[in-house]
Amino acid sequence: MSDDLSAFQRPGFARKYADFSVIGDRRGAREHRVRLLAGLRGRVIEVGAGNGRNFPHYPATVTEVVAVEPEHTLRGLAVAAARSAPVPVSVVAGHAGALPGEAGTFDAAVVSLVLCSVPAPAAALAEVARVLKPGGELRFYEHVRSERAVIGLLEDAVTPLWTRLAGGCRPNRDTLAEIRRAGFAVEEADRFAFSPQPLMPPFAHLLGRARLPVADESFM
Ligand SMILES: C[S@@+](CC[C@H](N)C(=O)[O-])C[C@H]1O[C@@H](n2cnc3c(N)ncnc32)[C@H](O)[C@@H]1O
Repeated sequence: MSDDLSAFQRPGFARKYADFSVIGDRRGAREHRVRLLAGLRGRVIEVGAGNGRNFPHYPATVTEVVAVEPEHTLRGLAVAAARSAPVPVSVVAGHAGALPGEAGTFDAAVVSLVLCSVPAPAAALAEVARVLKPGGELRFYEHVRSERAVIGLLEDAVTPLWTRLAGGCRPNRDTLAEIRRAGFAVEEADRFAFSPQPLMPPFAHLLGRARLPVADESFM
């Protein structure tokens, strides 16, 4: 990949995330990851794979995972995690704004705790739509802005500081609206509160699936 990935390097955050993600998985994220990936099949692209915490949970019906990760430290950990994955996983350097792969070549795409961090979610989802086959599936597990007015405003207020401390993450995104705007039909979206770390209040998460329209096969 020829793209310059220097803007995505956050080694300090990456080392912390490697520990936080293990704690988060123990507190319930592991189950969320299992649900996220259940029933997937064929070729899958995972965007912003981090240290590869999803890899152990891909079902055997998945023939190949292409896991894209821009951050060098996390990508190194993902490469190590891929070695013991139950399905073939190739970890590649890249970012959501320019995904590897020809148009229409993946059966499904996975985004987990990543659309909060990408600089431009609309562009990222447009890329996901490009590489998916018509009718292809998007699986998502994301934390999102609260629907409770006061909490949403608090999340807006802490976003500038949070973004600096948490690797570019924004706690106040309306990711479901972004997914719909990108042309996906949302088939399932479970909304729940989850506290991924001790002393962290539960905040809104979304887990679900969405699908691109099937190509129009009418002839006139
Ligand atoms: C909170 S971590 C989540 C990692 C992993 N998906 C998981 O479920 O544990 C956010 C990830 O998004 C990645 N990321 C940030 N901006 C990105 C972009 N534009 N394209 C792809 N990945 C990005 C980060 O490097 C990091 O690995």
